[in-house]
Amino acid sequence: AVESRDRLRIAIQKSGRLADPARALLASCGLSWRESRDRLFCYGETLPVDLLLVRDDDIPGLIADGVCDLGIVGRNVLEEQDAERLRGGATPAFREMRSLGFGGCRLALAVPESWSWQGPAQLAGTRIATSYPALLQAWLEREGIVADVVTLSGSVEIAPRLGQADLVCDLVSSGATLAANQLKPVATLLESEAVLAGPVGEFDGERALLAEMLLRRLDGALRTRH
Ligand code: PRP
Ligand code: ZN
Ligand code: MG
Repeated sequence: AVESRDRLRIAIQKSGRLADPARALLASCGLSWRESRDRLFCYGETLPVDLLLVRDDDIPGLIADGVCDLGIVGRNVLEEQDAERLRGGATPAFREMRSLGFGGCRLALAVPESWSWQGPAQLAGTRIATSYPALLQAWLEREGIVADVVTLSGSVEIAPRLGQADLVCDLVSSGATLAANQLKPVATLLESEAVLAGPVGEFDGERALLAEMLLRRLDGALRTRH
């Protein structure tokens, strides 16, 4: 069982594209923090709402395990880990509670610029490099295509040049990384942005009240942004 806590704990990305906007959004909800010396934990001062600064990929698991109550993470990470759980026969353990309007990108298939794209059927028997194997596999199955999924944890776009794969399935934001690697996007698997993630079940006690208050403030902050 998870320790009982009266404070709410929110996981955010420690460094990376979502780190600063996530903190700024929470600050606009009236939260402020005192940082620990290692800067991995921020103690809530105005409200009993603490931050845990972690790798984005760890956020869904921290919520599933009840170590954190909420998290700010890309929908791409949440959906990938949800698809992975589903494949393993597990039940959903986290859910998207709000979309936050920053960190927009899409998970796309990208092929060498020299290819003339004829459609998904062209992918049969190819090798596709990705950091999103569960989402890619699910998409391939829906399209009825058998291809080789090569899982890499980063620098996916360089795989075709290295001869590790024929094409890639990765996040595209500005498109600069694809262009730099002579790749072009041909299909979108998922539209993504930063989201507020939480558990499937309800909070209890003090944390339920805190979460409710925070969501109210967050909705207010999101309204004035749009
Ligand atoms: C992301 C993503 C792509 C790139 C796309 O990587 O994996 O590689 O950004 O952005 P662009 O279309 O604007 O070029 P990121 O630099 O965030 O690092 P990571 O892959 O290590 O997470
Ligand atoms: Zn990451
Ligand atoms: Mg990358």
